[in-house]
Amino acid sequence: MSLDKVIVALDFSKSKEALKLVDELDELISFYKVGLELFLSEGRNILKALKKRNKKIFLDLKFHDIPNTVHRAVKASLNFGIDMLTLHTTGGFEMMKRAIEIVEEAKIKEASQLKLLGVTILTSLDNESLTELYGFSIDTSSIVKNLAILSKKAGLDGVIASAKEIKNIKNHCGKDFLVVTPGIRVEKLVKDDQKRTVSPQEAFLLGADYIVIGRAVTLSKNPAEVILNLFK
Ligand code: C5P
Repeated sequence: MSLDKVIVALDFSKSKEALKLVDELDELISFYKVGLELFLSEGRNILKALKKRNKKIFLDLKFHDIPNTVHRAVKASLNFGIDMLTLHTTGGFEMMKRAIEIVEEAKIKEASQLKLLGVTILTSLDNESLTELYGFSIDTSSIVKNLAILSKKAGLDGVIASAKEIKNIKNHCGKDFLVVTPGIRVEKLVKDDQKRTVSPQEAFLLGADYIVIGRAVTLSKNPAEVILNLFK
């Protein structure tokens, strides 16, 4: 368990708030997730500010569109020098293939370090929510396994999934297939809108390559203390 494997989600609307947290955690955390809210509010400037501070960037825009559109969106993202990018695996095999194609090309040309990850099923959804969505009974873990296998076949570097699904994913896709795990809670009782949650220790014991932690840190009065206590 190492803090290098902890990604803090900068779920803020203003760069000022986000960078205040980054500076507070400077000695502790080197990897940050920029999601829709911050990227739509501040655009490229927040990425530049993080790069200036030598931080690694996970741009979590969760692309989900037709293959050509996603291919072109991934291409546009390559200009940012980011380290991780997400798309929804439910966009389909062809979409994933077209997306990774452009990353592979960039890797040959410019030694890009970008990892392309597929979102399987959001950790805010469970069996009940999926049944409500599709109209028939669905087992989340078998869908996640299937989506992970498909992502691996398409050539993605890994997936975003709940810690509870890691073992199954690694068994089918190999130990080098990355699993990044959100839905981390430090207090067992506080789940907010997340349904498939685990503690940081549990996530790493279950085999997570990285954990993503948002509100437990961003809403805390003492974020550094939360980080220092993650594995206690
Ligand atoms: O605040 P919390 O720790 O729940 O934040 C989790 C972060 O991980 C959010 O930024 C959310 O967008 C992201 N995420 C997720 N589930 C996924 C993919 C990403 O919760 N499947």
